[in-house]
Amino acid sequence: MTGLHPSERGTAGTLQVHRTPDAVSAAVRALRADGRAVAFVPTMGALHAGHRALVRHARDADPSAATVVSIFVNPLQFGAGEDLDRYPRPLEADLAACREEGVELVFLPGVRDMYPEGADTTVVPGALGSELEGAVRPGHFAGVLTVVAKLFHIVAPDVAYFGEKDYQQLALITRMARDLDFPLTVAAVPTVREPDGLALSSRNVYLSAPDRARATTLYRALSAGAAAAAGGPGAVLGAARAVLAGDPALEVDYLELRDAALGADPGPGPARLLVAARLGSTHLIDNIAVQL
Ligand code: PAF
Repeated sequence: MTGLHPSERGTAGTLQVHRTPDAVSAAVRALRADGRAVAFVPTMGALHAGHRALVRHARDADPSAATVVSIFVNPLQFGAGEDLDRYPRPLEADLAACREEGVELVFLPGVRDMYPEGADTTVVPGALGSELEGAVRPGHFAGVLTVVAKLFHIVAPDVAYFGEKDYQQLALITRMARDLDFPLTVAAVPTVREPDGLALSSRNVYLSAPDRARATTLYRALSAGAAAAAGGPGAVLGAARAVLAGDPALEVDYLELRDAALGADPGPGPARLLVAARLGSTHLIDNIAVQL
């Protein structure tokens, strides 16, 4: 992929790369005119096996659909002092990954393409947007929902794929699509993990070797919690807390057990155990299904 310089409207092999909303909308309309359904995978780039799994789910669900990937590090969802400037942007590797996965169209806008001078309208999440991750990162989910709503309008997909790794994001986007009548399906894809359980994340590259080893504590805590489900919510939380307490270097922001829609305290049935912790300056999140 060396030497690829995506232009406003260009193609790289069979991979089309478009920079502007108008160009990508026109390209999607052309695909539709050929009778293709459109599957969409929004990303911030730094693509890893978790993103590839989203694309593969899209392809497996409808092999005849065209897959569109957006790559945009959305400034609106980063708070002051967060990692916007150092967020990894390996563009050529990302485009190579899209090609390998059979993606047909990449939307690669710049900040001004998405937020022209004077743009100041945003999507306000409901109460869930200020809880859990929203309490740790105020304004984060308004930024996520705003960009995802814009991307949904620009790409107009039939199905959009999101990872369960960002479970609260998935829940909020599902609600937004329902509440604001987006004519599409939001599809969830299970978290992809390293062999030792660490959930794949573009931010894992920030971890030092000792912190990388420690980071597995999150998944061990979640697994211990899920395994204690027969004992009820108290046992789940107790088991997870005991594992987290084993590493004092881990600064836990929250550990919560909620119902599967994150709406209320869980009763018997499917629930979700969510954790966030800091290791040095790296913020890690993870979650697991729990059957109460
Ligand atoms: O999950 C992400 O990578 C981002 O939050 C998303 C959904 C692409 C919006 O910027």
